[in-house]
Amino acid sequence: MPDADIRMRVNGVTRRATVPPRLTLADFLRERCGLTGTHLGCEHGVCGACSVLLDGEAVRACLVFAVQADDADVTTVEGLAEPDGELSPVQAAFRDNHGLQCGFCTPGFVVSVTALLRDNPDPTDEEIREGLSGNLCRCTGYQGILKAVRAAAGTAADGAAAAEEPR
Ligand code: FES
Ligand code: FES
Repeated sequence: MPDADIRMRVNGVTRRATVPPRLTLADFLRERCGLTGTHLGCEHGVCGACSVLLDGEAVRACLVFAVQADDADVTTVEGLAEPDGELSPVQAAFRDNHGLQCGFCTPGFVVSVTALLRDNPDPTDEEIREGLSGNLCRCTGYQGILKAVRAAAGTAADGAAAAEEPR
């Protein structure tokens, strides 16, 4: 198949390129756009490290071809912070609650959690676990991640207050 001309908005910036049909969206973002925050772990759709938002939906960029994102809006982890560098609420919650260790899985988690909380701003722990089940952390830092999600959702304070209430 011949190369294809594509155009997409990545973090609000229009990108045009001519790409081989089998180029993945993850490779397009990393190699053609220089957005290396999208990490590649398994490249088989298992680990979630490559998660990005495609027209608002969290997808695994290693499983999407760049040509499939033609005309789409893509948001990578680099697009979540404010233009002045202020972290998004989810990013700040990960920082403040020890939600990362080596940080390799973190971009994928942050993207997935951003989508999760947008769709369900007040999730239960069960819903958080379910929402994160597609993201793997090799450092096994899941407790900090769970705490970070609760904090980003604004439920951490409630939980702490409840724990401190006299019986
Ligand atoms: S690199 Fe895409 S899911 Fe692991
Ligand atoms: S923080 Fe190291 S892989 Fe998750």
